[in-house]
Amino acid sequence: MNNITSRILGTGAFLPPRIVDNHQIAQLTETSDEWIQKRTGITQRHFVDAGVGCGDLAAMAGRQALDNAGVKQVDALIVATTTPDNTFPATAARVHQLLQLLPCPFFDIQAVCAGFVYALNMADNMIKLGQARHILVIGAEVYSKIISPEDRNTFVLFGDGAGAVVLGADTSGRGILTCKIMADGQFNRALYVDGGVVSTGSAGIVRMDGQEVFRHAVEKMSNIVQESLQNCQLSINDIDWLIPHQANWRIMAMVADKLQIPHERVIKTVQYHANISAATIPFALHYGVENGMVKANDIIAMTALGGGFAWGGAIVKY
Ligand code: ACO
Repeated sequence: MNNITSRILGTGAFLPPRIVDNHQIAQLTETSDEWIQKRTGITQRHFVDAGVGCGDLAAMAGRQALDNAGVKQVDALIVATTTPDNTFPATAARVHQLLQLLPCPFFDIQAVCAGFVYALNMADNMIKLGQARHILVIGAEVYSKIISPEDRNTFVLFGDGAGAVVLGADTSGRGILTCKIMADGQFNRALYVDGGVVSTGSAGIVRMDGQEVFRHAVEKMSNIVQESLQNCQLSINDIDWLIPHQANWRIMAMVADKLQIPHERVIKTVQYHANISAATIPFALHYGVENGMVKANDIIAMTALGGGFAWGGAIVKY
């Protein structure tokens, strides 16, 4: 097409201040810190206080990404979320207002835990087509509103938080080298929320066949990393950092093992925030950048799978 790439100019992240550790969760449902840590690697999650919305978390992460990028205005805003503040307008509308952005296209993407990779794909295409030079891409979730102690299978796994990147058109060779998305609706009941605007009129809670999700996550996330590497003629040895969706350390470790990537090259933050769905990859990327792990020109492989199933992978030269 042309030699324009979408480069990550800045990252940001935000977790609401209230920490809920596994011991507190064990007071609400029949589980234990030991069980949660052993099966998932999670030690704590953050929950919003009353009155704080998904748009608020998204705006905090977005503001930090804009500041770190040195970018004041963008040509588009995409928010990946499964837990919007309202049925409409898009959560992106509230974020657009909070960040005092000038009029520009904005929309939400609903691809559950793969939402950030989907948003990255849309943003990358818009930049390559010349429709935008700068795009703010945010993953933000408030899962505390769609889990309940009545279902311990899912209650222990999720949290609230946000992560963001600013993408800019670039010709230096750095940026998104490839981004692949895929989905298969035959698995739409393996991981879903049992409510909604039309079905029940209420939000509902997350339901999951954990073992089915686990199996598909390992297989599909590792396969799409391999396919993405082939797309840009790179190999596993070229990867400096693997940033898998942070749902569960056991899934992440198995993806790394299947790909033969040493665990030291996997960025892991799930222990701090549990599964924050569309926000996990930008959160972990920001963590890697802030802690001096991710450096300019590093090759990063990102991958996620979530409800739908929807999944995706990206190879990025940071
Ligand atoms: N606390 C304590 N005990 C529990 C809990 C819990 N929260 N949940 C189940 N158990 C018990 C079960 O009753 C069972 O007891 P039993 O042996 O006496 O019958 C035992 O623990 C094992 O249950 P399994 O369901 O077989 O546990 P498994 O090893 O499959 O682990 C888990 C469950 C952690 C949910 C796993 O299936 C998993 O990680 N799945 C992936 C799910 C995931 O991460 N989803 C996030 C969204 S999707 C994504 O982002 C990729």
